[in-house]
Amino acid sequence: MPAYAVLGAQWGDEGKGKIVDFLARDADIVARFSGGNNAGHTVMNPMGTFKLHLVPVGVFWPQVIGVIGNGVVVDPDGLLQEIEELQQRGIDLTDRLLVSERAHIVMPYHIVLDELAELARGSEAIGTTGRGIGPAYTDKAARIGIRIADLLDLEALLPRLDNVMAHQNAIIDKVYGGQPLSLDKVYDRCKEWASRLMQFIGPVEHVVYDALQAGRTVVLEGAQGAMLDLDHGTYPYVTSSHPTIGGAYTGLGLPPNQIESVLGVFKAYSTRVGHGPFLTELHGETGSKIRELAGEFGTTTGRARRVGWFDSVAARYSVRINGYTSLVLTRLDVLDSLDSIKVCTAYELDGETVTDFPGSAAVLERCTPIYEDFPAWDRPTAGVTDFDDLPVGARAYVRRLEELIGRPIDLISTGPYRHETIEVRSMIAV
Ligand code: IMP
Repeated sequence: MPAYAVLGAQWGDEGKGKIVDFLARDADIVARFSGGNNAGHTVMNPMGTFKLHLVPVGVFWPQVIGVIGNGVVVDPDGLLQEIEELQQRGIDLTDRLLVSERAHIVMPYHIVLDELAELARGSEAIGTTGRGIGPAYTDKAARIGIRIADLLDLEALLPRLDNVMAHQNAIIDKVYGGQPLSLDKVYDRCKEWASRLMQFIGPVEHVVYDALQAGRTVVLEGAQGAMLDLDHGTYPYVTSSHPTIGGAYTGLGLPPNQIESVLGVFKAYSTRVGHGPFLTELHGETGSKIRELAGEFGTTTGRARRVGWFDSVAARYSVRINGYTSLVLTRLDVLDSLDSIKVCTAYELDGETVTDFPGSAAVLERCTPIYEDFPAWDRPTAGVTDFDDLPVGARAYVRRLEELIGRPIDLISTGPYRHETIEVRSMIAV
């Protein structure tokens, strides 16, 4: 059985957690391939409500092995805390979690550097989650990163860490005027991580590939969203990894012919956390109403998410760079209590109509959205499980989004629980 990817198609927080939890019923492996604990995946299932940041969401199904690929940056303290919390709530990950030896570690100095760099940006701040993600990927590209594999040879790690920390401490101290970190303390943390994580470290590429050859089903769990992609997002207001389909290949060492389906998860409206262009943003009462109703506050940082209408220009771009074979629409029920709904169909720039997403954040800032209006629907969609039971207005909204995006919507989420799902076309999964 081939692998299929579940990707965030907007700015993250599309509700991928619920969707992966739903789809993982048929999976053998659920694998993360990008990002780190900047991600926050909320899952509400019969075992309770969970907020996961690094552990793949599929682990609530007992047959599933969770995999953390080489493309992820791992904060070991965060990971160990999640493993422990899950254990306390009856979900045992012994023999069910595998972390790539090639994954890079988010070191304590990365977290310090993230905060200092963000402060120094002043009015140009990105609004990072402050989890050290950017600096960890920076070190990876600079070839001074510390990898999970380094925990397996602590003797060899010490002189390397000494070198790297001399460099990082100089930046902390001399560039930002911050407090340098102690080598001994960081090395002690590494020793503890090594002893506690040892059992989970393994050759992820081989395990995932062998599982696919044996006919098993692998779900690739995206984090963040296409519009936050380092290359394809609204640079520089992006994350430092590749939440797009390319990231799934490099972030797990998968050959290109192994991924058959690519599911793009869209929310029925838009949200964005942090700074950067967001054309359809709602600044008034409607935005606040949606935020409160939907609980649009960051799972990782608690920050209020910016809320806006669905942007089909960005959505079409997201399709172009990811080649979604199916779409998933989440949080349709949030629109139930609105008096009217808008969808952005194109932008206007200097008197011209723009239908392709601009490549520059500065150009994007100069565009204004062109909207199409939709009347409110007369009864709730919340909890509906059959497409034909949706109110006429909601069906029309979904059909119009399909037209605007240019792909069929195969799965619709009408509430946070697994059963609050409409499978429009049953072959979304396997
Ligand atoms: P970083 O990934 O912490 O460096 O943050 C860079 C940008 O990506 C900021 O605007 C963050 O708010 C945003 N971001 C990072 N992770 C997520 C996520 O999981 N959901 C939504 N936005 C995110």
